[in-house]
Amino acid sequence: MSDLPVSRTIALAERMQAIEPFRVMALLARAKQLQAEGRDIIHMEIGEPDFTTAEPIIAAAQEALAQGKTTYTQALGIPELRTAISAWYQKQYGIDVPASRIVVTPGGSGALLLLSALLMNPNDELLMSDPSYPCNRHFLRLVEGKARLIETTATSRYQLTPAMVREHWNEHTKGVLVASPSNPTGELLSREQLQALAQVCRELGGVLLVDEIYHGMVYGEDAVSVLEVADDVLVLNSFSKYFGMTGWRIGWLVAPEALIPEIEKLAQNLYISVQTISQYAALAAFSPEAVAIHEARRAEFAQRRDYLVQALRDLGLIIPNVPAGAFYVYADVSAFTQDSRNWCLQLLEQEGVAVTPGEDFGTFRCDEHVRFAYTDSLPRLQEAVARIQRFIQTQSV
Ligand SMILES: Cc1ncc(COP(=O)(O)O)c(C=O)c1O
Repeated sequence: MSDLPVSRTIALAERMQAIEPFRVMALLARAKQLQAEGRDIIHMEIGEPDFTTAEPIIAAAQEALAQGKTTYTQALGIPELRTAISAWYQKQYGIDVPASRIVVTPGGSGALLLLSALLMNPNDELLMSDPSYPCNRHFLRLVEGKARLIETTATSRYQLTPAMVREHWNEHTKGVLVASPSNPTGELLSREQLQALAQVCRELGGVLLVDEIYHGMVYGEDAVSVLEVADDVLVLNSFSKYFGMTGWRIGWLVAPEALIPEIEKLAQNLYISVQTISQYAALAAFSPEAVAIHEARRAEFAQRRDYLVQALRDLGLIIPNVPAGAFYVYADVSAFTQDSRNWCLQLLEQEGVAVTPGEDFGTFRCDEHVRFAYTDSLPRLQEAVARIQRFIQTQSV
């Protein structure tokens, strides 16, 4: 018999009741189980490009390892990378964002954690759209703050407007967090909208945070960086999506110069520095060879989007606007169900197509929405659409 003490219940912090898992993980687990049983599953549930990291980036990581780059770095990131990101702003947007305002972070997630800790006092709130990326509200809860979710519809491209911000602003409001392009809707904020949101936050004494991690993944209209129109804002970005480096856990944030020493304190304490190997690898993400690969992939995503939006519309799903970017289609499935979670589960069981129910992104009409990620090849998406069609037909008899 073991000498270890009898197992007992360990009391957890209250906040754990508010921190929810990604509900899609249960669906993903079931999809994997079906796959292990030999079923052919089409994965359209995951927010991750299906391409592996571009070869020049992998080569740079191998080279850095061979040179023994394995120790901690500066908490704010290696100077070469901060300078390279600054040069990217110059090249892509024609704007001067000095390296001294850029902080390398462990993914966009790390940036969100730093910014939450930086800004929020207990009970402070950030305004966000419903639907939006679910982790944001949990980062805030972790630092005893709150997300105030505001219902949005296709009329405002599922984005917050200055009027909504004014209407919902209260004594606890610290600022506004938006994403452009957004997850799950792929919708952009225009230059004028970004300018107006920055202005309303300024007027009301708060701060605008903009998640630009899907920049680069746009298929028509260009994504405007809020840094083109304001510098009293906080921006986060990532190497995960356009640069295809999800597993390397690296991103960055841009903040006003005066806040950088405060962010540095947090970074030093929370994680010391970002993965060294990832920082050297990311340097190569801006090389012409890597950018050519990213651009070819972008062209492929554009083709997939154009196909999928039309094909789903033809099946009777409602997609009011063609999403401008990211790799998601947020579709209204109310013609078929008022219970999108169950609809997704049945679609997986019957046809082996995995998609994400709206409940992962908020509560407003979430039971009538589903997110489709076009993170598989065009022929696989065509197969998925054929299966969804069959599913809808069998449901209606
Ligand atoms: C809108 C949004 N922000 C932030 C993230 C975090 O991504 P990462 O930590 O990989 O940069 C994601 C991931 O899917 C996202 O969709």
